[in-house]
Amino acid sequence: MFALVLALLVQRQTAGFDHGWRFHLGDVTRAQEAAFNDSAWRKLDLPHDWSIQGDFSEQNPAGAAGGALPGGIGWYRKAFTVPAADKGKRVFIDFDGVYRNSEVWINGHSLGKRPYGYSSFRYELTPHLRAGARNVIAVRVDNSQQPNSRWYSGSGIYRHVRLVTTSPVHVDHWGTYVTTERVSADSSRVRIRTTIRNELHAEQQLFPVTTIYDSAGETVGVGVHEGVVVPADSVVEIEDEFTIADPTLWSVERPYLYRAVTRVTCRKSVCDDYTTTFGVRTAEFRADSGFFLNGRHVKIRGICLHHDLGALGAAVNTRAIERQLQIMKAMGANALRTSHNPPAPELLDLTDRMGFIVMDEAFDMWKKEKTKYDYHLDWDAWHERDLSDMVRRDRNHPSVFMWSIGNEVMEQWTDGDSTAASIARELAGIVHRLDPTRPVTQAANNGSTRNPVFHAGALDLLGHNYHHEAWADFPSQYPGAKFIITEAMSDLNSRGVYPQPSDSVSEYHWPYEKDKGPRPPADGRLSSYDNSYAFWGSLHEESLRLFERYPFLSGIFIWQGIDYLGEPTPYEWPARSSYFGVVDLAGFPKDPFYLYQSVWTDRPMLHLLPHWNWTAGDSIDVWAYTNADEVELFLNGASLGRKRKSETVSHLVWRVAYAPGTLRGVARTAGRETAVAEVKTAGRPARITLAADRTHLSASGDDLAFITVTVRDSAGVDVPTAEPLVQFWITGTARVVGVDNGDPMSHTSFQAGQIRLFNGKALVIVRAGTRSGVSTLTASADGLAPSSVRIEVRQESQR
Ligand code: GAL
Repeated sequence: MFALVLALLVQRQTAGFDHGWRFHLGDVTRAQEAAFNDSAWRKLDLPHDWSIQGDFSEQNPAGAAGGALPGGIGWYRKAFTVPAADKGKRVFIDFDGVYRNSEVWINGHSLGKRPYGYSSFRYELTPHLRAGARNVIAVRVDNSQQPNSRWYSGSGIYRHVRLVTTSPVHVDHWGTYVTTERVSADSSRVRIRTTIRNELHAEQQLFPVTTIYDSAGETVGVGVHEGVVVPADSVVEIEDEFTIADPTLWSVERPYLYRAVTRVTCRKSVCDDYTTTFGVRTAEFRADSGFFLNGRHVKIRGICLHHDLGALGAAVNTRAIERQLQIMKAMGANALRTSHNPPAPELLDLTDRMGFIVMDEAFDMWKKEKTKYDYHLDWDAWHERDLSDMVRRDRNHPSVFMWSIGNEVMEQWTDGDSTAASIARELAGIVHRLDPTRPVTQAANNGSTRNPVFHAGALDLLGHNYHHEAWADFPSQYPGAKFIITEAMSDLNSRGVYPQPSDSVSEYHWPYEKDKGPRPPADGRLSSYDNSYAFWGSLHEESLRLFERYPFLSGIFIWQGIDYLGEPTPYEWPARSSYFGVVDLAGFPKDPFYLYQSVWTDRPMLHLLPHWNWTAGDSIDVWAYTNADEVELFLNGASLGRKRKSETVSHLVWRVAYAPGTLRGVARTAGRETAVAEVKTAGRPARITLAADRTHLSASGDDLAFITVTVRDSAGVDVPTAEPLVQFWITGTARVVGVDNGDPMSHTSFQAGQIRLFNGKALVIVRAGTRSGVSTLTASADGLAPSSVRIEVRQESQR
């Protein structure tokens, strides 16, 4: 009885459960048993992706489309003790994502299996826990049957794990649902539905109080319930309604967040408190004029992002995701699509805080297969659960504006396919039941007006991939429908490659077939001018111009914001990562990045390409991207003429007889200078230069510095063609955790302590530990002066 009373007084504790795991690559018998001896296994901390630590090989079953890295079976184990005083508490383990086919045991008891590697899930440990004694969690992960994902998936417990301890009476998992109504500048109604679970075998009387705080911590609403009765072993849903006066609305420019804290009182003391972050905003899609956020028209200018983090693989790291989003914001993007699966929760926390409009996508396939071992095998048993869990987990995020129930599913291809319409209706029904406030879409690339998914009557927004030539006809083909371009472009570029001349366009077919488009260059280096695309796509400039022109197109998502591992179209092995990104795998912008900046941002900008290291007499096409009206180009002080932007062309071109020196562009609007850009001829490579995005890191254990490696001549000009092999050393407690150069053909392990520059650039990623101190990263290469950068790691409170 005493224990019971004590338990009822316990409040929620959420503790990271990432540290101190043991890992073994390969299958092992009886490793789920508590007594199993794992002392020879490798020690590691989560999140962990074993694929990224492997070697690239054509033999790896994922193939080049999956990143050519290994899969396999892996085991994780972690021993832990639960304090004796916790007897009577409820203990849960939360996995944000395990790729894939996981099974979890506690002290030898199986808790369950989860095939879909992109879902978050929870198990209750309580009945099998030994309070005050050693307990063992074991996880078997099976990513051996491949291919099973488009594109690189990673393998293992690649997202965070937490241990959640509650009283037997507590707010349920993903137990709140916040909606806003009648939102205006003067007031907003906020409705919060809270599910409370009573795990005791006796009826309980509860006093839940929900308080809403603004971002300064001021109370803006309180909801009190007197004596809510929850029957034994049961749940109850309570509902609170608030009015927030003069609400600060969530917007892309000012992503303002409120916090609702639900405190549940059981027998006079608080037995749970549960926090939900939310935003107040309105969203409306209109058939004729697109998207309106808080009543104001906003063009959704988005990117598709695959979930991998380049050299870090799939292992989630908040700073790495934040950096990706910062790069995309700098390009002018205000939206992202989680192509093609539910993202890590940290991504949505960041989009809430940074002001992105998110399309949250559930699946890349339904019942019909896309790759041999993919989720279609689990469809019947799991789709309802996986889709519901995604919506329940993500529906309080103000940045989530629409749900996608699938990408290019095979069911769309058969006219009159009876399964397409019925699956679409079933999925849309699941989503609408759990969240009637957001539209449901589906990304379809069968442009035929007979596409059965479009006629299912299930979609609130018709999502189209590609077929830009058909966009103009949408309103007449689908009268009254609302549209979004869920995917477009599939332009193809390497970074820093400038074959001359630039004015012929290459439409690449894949796989390459004689007489069908050009053969891509054998060295795996595609042009960086916006003049190549995959046959189903278009040049960036072409689709961008059409998208901006049609008001009925609410949004667009570029394929792809950042290169990802896998799908090396127009190549196969030995290439192993994509060419579709506006930014390369290492995070360095390719030139079309500046096209988007010139159309999507207002800060005066001018970008000139290519570099200026050629052979005397070469004829070189110089392009400029600017948001000014015109640009004048000078070579060594002599004007090469002014060019004005036109309705139909977003880049300016000069054909220039090369002479070494300085190329200078001056951008002007209405005769006034707005921006200047210069490109200089570099001399012989003299020294390495390291530029860290941040030199002060937090000792949180997972903070990162992204350090750009370049080579300069003796006058300090970057050498754009330098490709030396650079080696790294680091002192102190920080570690080098990844190297990359953005070259899809590179087979150097991302874990190597060295990397060859690709067109003048490479990236090295340094991770801080949990101890304060100074680390020095040094880079050296044959024949070049070395360089060092100092990274200071401090405890949060010292920063
Ligand atoms: C789309 C597909 C993406 C990716 C892209 C490449 O059709 O949805 O996953 O394959 O093409 O262009």
